[in-house]
Amino acid sequence: MSESIFDVSGKVAFVSGASSGIGAHFARVLAARGASVIVAARRTERLQNLVDEIEAGGGRASAVSMDVTTEPSVKAAFDQAQDKYGVVEIVSNNAGVADSKPALATDQESWDFVLDTNLKGIWLVAREAGSRMIKSRTPGNIVNTASILGIRVALFQSSYCTSKAAVIQLTKSLALEWSRKNIRVNALCPGYFKTEINAAFLESEKGKALVANTPSQRIGELDELTAPFLLLASNAGSFVNGAALVVDGAHSLGNI
Ligand SMILES: NC(=O)c1ccc[n+]([C@@H]2O[C@H](COP(=O)([O-])OP(=O)(O)OC[C@H]3O[C@@H](n4cnc5c(N)ncnc54)[C@H](OP(=O)(O)O)[C@@H]3O)[C@@H](O)[C@H]2O)c1
Repeated sequence: MSESIFDVSGKVAFVSGASSGIGAHFARVLAARGASVIVAARRTERLQNLVDEIEAGGGRASAVSMDVTTEPSVKAAFDQAQDKYGVVEIVSNNAGVADSKPALATDQESWDFVLDTNLKGIWLVAREAGSRMIKSRTPGNIVNTASILGIRVALFQSSYCTSKAAVIQLTKSLALEWSRKNIRVNALCPGYFKTEINAAFLESEKGKALVANTPSQRIGELDELTAPFLLLASNAGSFVNGAALVVDGAHSLGNI
């Protein structure tokens, strides 16, 4: 299978949560394959560094400030994206946070922080992107970053698990509604990959013990998300719609 099956050259792509971790990786992946990439998050200095890096490598990218929890901010970011490169055709809907706490220690502020970012934010970005694709009759696809914690549960992650399970249902709902508009909506469900969201945990004794106990006995490398992401984001996955693709080295299977 030639790599061109994952072709995204000439496409307009938008990556939320691109200031670090998985989102920054997906922005690099898309730009390296010839897409024009809008990178969005709140920490614009980091975004600009990423744009500089992509441009130095011969790619096309542009940074926009966006807070996914705020509707006007999402709309403004897509206005800027469209002015710069045209209607967005590929969305990596990736911004996310966690706030690990026992259920009884989870107050409303913590719950809203996680759900507003991980669920409302994903919804606002998907709705904004979908509305522009539909209005302009532009075929496109949206890849929502969910998690294996949207399928299984872990201790002290009730808000995060709830948000990610809801992202999977939102993904399927939008896929069903927008399929006839030539828009695919899929979810990517990573296992553990070391980024700012979990670095401290993965470096702790508890984290190391958890990883040692998984079927693959290791965490994933960001490069191992590249092909699964491109399958969903490119025409290679032209008949994949409403899927929740798990990339976790069998972590979520468990052993009963
Ligand atoms: N790493 C893993 O093992 C793993 C596993 C499964 C799923 N995930 C999911 O993967 C996605 C990316 O996480 P990551 O691992 O790459 O973590 P990360 O390095 O902490 O990145 C999170 C990104 O989300 C952005 N973000 C957070 N709140 C935002 C807001 N209100 N508005 C706009 N952007 C916001 C952050 O940018 P700013 O702070 O600059 O705004 C940052 O770019 C998340 O949805 C996470 O739940 C990660």
